[in-house]
Amino acid sequence: WGKTGHRAVGEIAGKYLSKKAEKQILNLLDGHSLAFVANYGDDIKSDRAYDHYSPWHYVNFPFGEKYETHPKSEKGDIIQGIEKCITVLKNANSSREDKVFHLKMLVHFMGDLHQPLHIGLADDKGGNDFQVRWFNDGTNLHSVWDYKMLDFYEMSYTEVATNTDVLSKEQVEAIKKGNVIDWMYESRVLCEDIYANTEIGEKLSYNYMYKYMNTLRSQLQKGGIRLAKVLNEIFK
Ligand code: ADE
Ligand code: ZN
Ligand code: ZN
Repeated sequence: WGKTGHRAVGEIAGKYLSKKAEKQILNLLDGHSLAFVANYGDDIKSDRAYDHYSPWHYVNFPFGEKYETHPKSEKGDIIQGIEKCITVLKNANSSREDKVFHLKMLVHFMGDLHQPLHIGLADDKGGNDFQVRWFNDGTNLHSVWDYKMLDFYEMSYTEVATNTDVLSKEQVEAIKKGNVIDWMYESRVLCEDIYANTEIGEKLSYNYMYKYMNTLRSQLQKGGIRLAKVLNEIFK
């Protein structure tokens, strides 16, 4: 996602934190919100010292194959990245500095886990090499999903996060079910659907946006609620 998507995930997660988690997170983040730190994972990409974290934003494997049977990326992937963050945060011997870093990264990666094209194909780098038109501008499919659709609405991240407020308790419980691998496969199914419905060079505009905006917002919503679940489990 771009800035608005990641912030919306942080904002939604903030609404579902337990009191205990909220307190410990506020302390680690010096009073900043999850939305405030949600883009840290992308901000550090400008610093070559952090290059080794770049593969942690996504995972690529062919359609029809399973993550578990595909050879694991030695450089890491989004699943390994999320697991590493959880391990550091759960370890009582981790330094405060390490905990802060991995908390900010976890907030970011839980967002990316819900961007369908981050569970993508290596051939076109998750749609980064899949050229399309967005209204009259040349771009790529990955960018359409990361930020072009959200930017078009010109909504604030708090506004994007409000669709969560109408969920029933039962709906929230249903979203919380499962684990990181299950949630990755949900994104994979959406990714396959997106590829089945988009052609290289296609002009995408308002009708594409209207077709997918509910899916996109629902993914941000799920990302936020599930991030809170993971954090509540860590900060007990
Ligand atoms: N770079 C290579 N594959 C990618 C993906 N699926 N998502 C984001 N960036 C990538
Ligand atoms: Zn992306
Ligand atoms: Zn990212």
